Amino acid sequence: MSAILIRGGTVVNGDRSVRADVLCDGGVVRAVGEGLTAPAGAEVVDAGGQLVMPGGIDPHTHMQLPFMGTVTMDDFFTGTAAGLAGGTTTIIDFVMPGARQRPLEAYRTWREWAEKSAADYAFHVAITWWGDAVHEDMGTLVREEGVTSFKHFMAYKNAIMADDETLVRSFRRALELGAMPTVHAENGELVFLLQQEMLVREISGPEGHPLSRPPAVEGEATNRAIAIAGVLNVPVYVVHVSCAESLEAIARARAAGQRVYGEALAGHLVVDDSAYRSPDFATAAAHVMSPPFRPKEHQEALWRGLQAGHLQTTATDHCTFCAGQKAVGRGDFTKIPNGCGGVEERMAVIWDAGVNTGRLTPNEFVRVTSTNAAQLFNLYPRKGLVAPGADADLVVWDPEGTKTLSVKTQFSKGDFNVFEGRTVRGVPTHTVSGGRVVFARGDLRAERGAGRYLKRPAFNAVTEALGRAASRRAPVAVKR
Ligand code: URP
Ligand code: ZN
Ligand code: ZN
Ligand code: ZN
Repeated sequence: MSAILIRGGTVVNGDRSVRADVLCDGGVVRAVGEGLTAPAGAEVVDAGGQLVMPGGIDPHTHMQLPFMGTVTMDDFFTGTAAGLAGGTTTIIDFVMPGARQRPLEAYRTWREWAEKSAADYAFHVAITWWGDAVHEDMGTLVREEGVTSFKHFMAYKNAIMADDETLVRSFRRALELGAMPTVHAENGELVFLLQQEMLVREISGPEGHPLSRPPAVEGEATNRAIAIAGVLNVPVYVVHVSCAESLEAIARARAAGQRVYGEALAGHLVVDDSAYRSPDFATAAAHVMSPPFRPKEHQEALWRGLQAGHLQTTATDHCTFCAGQKAVGRGDFTKIPNGCGGVEERMAVIWDAGVNTGRLTPNEFVRVTSTNAAQLFNLYPRKGLVAPGADADLVVWDPEGTKTLSVKTQFSKGDFNVFEGRTVRGVPTHTVSGGRVVFARGDLRAERGAGRYLKRPAFNAVTEALGRAASRRAPVAVKR
C-alpha cells in the first residue's frame, strides 16, 4: 500500500475547517497540515477547491439480509462497495437472530457473511426474544466480540418483534454491560391489527402499507421505549425516526435531561409518501419500507430535528429488494419485503438538501454523517475524525460537482432508486478506505475482503455518567 498525499484541500471536521494537506500511510492518517511533502512513491490526490472529510459512517444497513422469505440483493461486498462510491467508508449492520436462535450463533454467521466486505464494518445485534441464553450471549458479545449496541424491533409481530419483557430485560442488561440499546419504534400490535383491517377492506396494494403504519403508531412506540429507558436509567437510540410524533417524543425527553438519541434516514428526509398511490405496482412496492415514507411536513420536522441536535445521525437502512422479490406481495401488501436502498446516495443527498439549502453547516454535515455515529457507537476517534492516528478513511468532496442519481448509474445491486432523477450538487470525487484510494472520479476500485471487522469497546462517558446517576438515585429501605 503506497502513501497518499491529499493536497490543497480544506479539511472539514465536526468542529472546524482548516486549509491543510493530509498525509496517509500504512492505513492511518500521519499528518494534517499545510505544505506537506509527498514521500517517494506516494500517490498524490489534488484536492484544490475541494473538501477533505472523514469518510461517512452509515450506522444502519442490512447487507445480505434474509428477511420476509428472501435475501437482499446487495451482499456485504456489493453493498459496501456502493457505499464507497458515495463516500461512506464504514457501515454498522445488524445481526438478526431468528426465532429462539442464540444471538452468538447468529453473530458468527453474520461475521462469516461479512468477510467479503470492501469497507470496514461493525455490528449491532438484534435481541428478538428473552432467556438466560440471551442474557449470557449479550455479555459475551460485549466483552469478547466488541458488539456494544443491541437492536430491538418493536414491530414485525410473529417474526422478530421484541415484547415489553424482552425490552425491559435487555435494556437492563445493556446498562450493566455499558452497551447502547436501540429500537425500531413502531407498535407491532397496532400495525398487525391495521394490516388485517386493510385486507378486510380489500386494500391489498402497497397503499395499505402506510395506512397500517400511521405516525401515531411510531410515536407510541418511541414514547414507550423512552419511558422504559428512563425508568431503567439507560440511554436509548431510536433508529429511522420518520415522523414529527416520534421526533417530539425524543425532543421532550432530551429537554427533560434524558440521554435519548435519534437517527434520520436520507430517504425519509427527502422522499414523501406519494409513490404508494402510484398505479404502477412495482413503483409503489419499491417504496415499501418501515417506517413508511411520510407526507412532506414530516420531512421539515426531521430537518429541524437535525438542526436542533435532537437527531444526531443520518443513515439509510439500506436493504434492497428487486421488483421480482417485491412482487411476492402482489395481492397482499403485508408480504412485500420491506426495504429500500441508499447507502451510495446518502452523503450527496444530505449535502445537497442540507448544506446547499443552509439547513446545515459543512461541519454539522460531518457530524451527522460521521462524527456523531462514531462517538455514540464507540468508534471515535479512529473513525469520524481527520487527524493524525485516525484511520485513513476519507472522502474528497467537490461542493460544486453535480450528479443526477439514477438506477442506471448506481453501483448498488438494487433495481430501483428512491432518489431517481434527483440532481445533487456536492459529490465525492475520491474515497480513501483503509489507506487505499478506492474510488476516483467515477472509477470504483473496491476490493473484496479488504474491509475489517471493528470491535467496539463498552462504556463511554454517557454510560458511565448514567451508572453514577443510577447509584445516586438507588432506592433505600426505611430502617425500623
Ligand atoms: O423496511 C425496513 N426498514 N427493512 C429493514 C428492517 C428494518 O425495519 O430496519
Ligand atoms: Zn427498522
Ligand atoms: Zn433497518
Ligand atoms: Zn431479482
